[in-house]
Amino acid sequence: MRKAFCLVVVAATLVFKCYAAPVQDHPPLNWLKKATDVIAFQLNKAAETYKPGQNPRSINPNGTVRTAGVTDWTTGFFPGSLWYGYELTGDKKLAEKAKAFTLALDSARHITNTHDLGFMLFCSYGNAYRITQDKTYLPALEEGAKNLAARFNPKIGVIRSWDFSWWHYPVIIDNMINLEYLYWSSKEFNKPAYATIASTHATTTIKNHFRKDFSSYHVVDYDPATGKVLRKATHQGLTNESAWARGQAWGLYGYTMCFENTKNPAFLAQAENIAKFIMNHPRTPKDKIPVWDYDVHNALEEDERAPRDASAAAVIASALLDLSTQVKDGQKYFTYAEDILKSLSSDQYLAKPDENKYFILKHSTGAMLYNSEIDTAIDYADYYYLEALKRYIAIKKINLKQLVKS
Ligand code: GLY
Repeated sequence: MRKAFCLVVVAATLVFKCYAAPVQDHPPLNWLKKATDVIAFQLNKAAETYKPGQNPRSINPNGTVRTAGVTDWTTGFFPGSLWYGYELTGDKKLAEKAKAFTLALDSARHITNTHDLGFMLFCSYGNAYRITQDKTYLPALEEGAKNLAARFNPKIGVIRSWDFSWWHYPVIIDNMINLEYLYWSSKEFNKPAYATIASTHATTTIKNHFRKDFSSYHVVDYDPATGKVLRKATHQGLTNESAWARGQAWGLYGYTMCFENTKNPAFLAQAENIAKFIMNHPRTPKDKIPVWDYDVHNALEEDERAPRDASAAAVIASALLDLSTQVKDGQKYFTYAEDILKSLSSDQYLAKPDENKYFILKHSTGAMLYNSEIDTAIDYADYYYLEALKRYIAIKKINLKQLVKS
């Protein structure tokens, strides 16, 4: 009798476990399932709501949406998010919308006055071509890469970032990301010079942009006549000597990607040293989502600290996942990135369906000292979050179809 009772209890427990089981039992991935559901909902609604060429960029303090036109540096992120959303969910409607939002950026190929062409064209057209292999995306990519490479000055050894303002020849750490577009174009369009330009820029940047602790300056201004460094400063950070959070993230992502493309050990060493700076930073909050600048000293309790930058966290997570696959002892990078993704996928950062003007993440900070885009949704946070999730799923070999359907 007792034996029979035990059997019934065991059977009932098993039935309950099956019914209540998470998507994949080991390890539990309910957070990921919830995230992909939110992503599918928000991206579909956003694609219906916003118009191609007027992409959702961020939420203004009054609750309206700031849009990005074709010349905005962030314009490629929304189409890119739609492409990643398609890959993450298999939803063909998202691919159709991604195509429309991508093609609306065609005239960006003629832009010559910024380094941001990688963000603008590679995130949109680059993903479009990678996923569809449709050659009609190639002319825009070819022309944009030519314009980006034309901004390289061999005497200084770097690509000029901006043409505006009083700088002489400004180079920002963000520029590292745009090198990926050149490495790819070098192969695709048979232009070996583009890869040389990218690697030279990365090498010069190691020399001039970094401090002893491997934190980076935001802007280095060069003398265009001699190539000498005139000034090391900031544009979006707290002070010239501070570590602006997204800048550290761009550097980490940039050198990881440069190593992937070249196998140059100097780039890997740089990436790992930047990772160490970020991962060991004493002012990183417990949830691993950094405050907008690592040098913001804040005596308040963690909940009341200065604004966070979820976009920096998303870029860091994506970069660390990539780094984790390129070294023998990559587990520490993977675990840190996984912690970030779990934080970003919690109610604290992940929007609820229908909220947040159809952006996916909350709590990013664009330019604190310019009072611009503070503690709000921003398009590049969503883009790098989606990219990081895609990398996470690939590394863990998660069955996406099973995840989405469950
Ligand atoms: N590339 C500009 C920024 O990260 O805000």
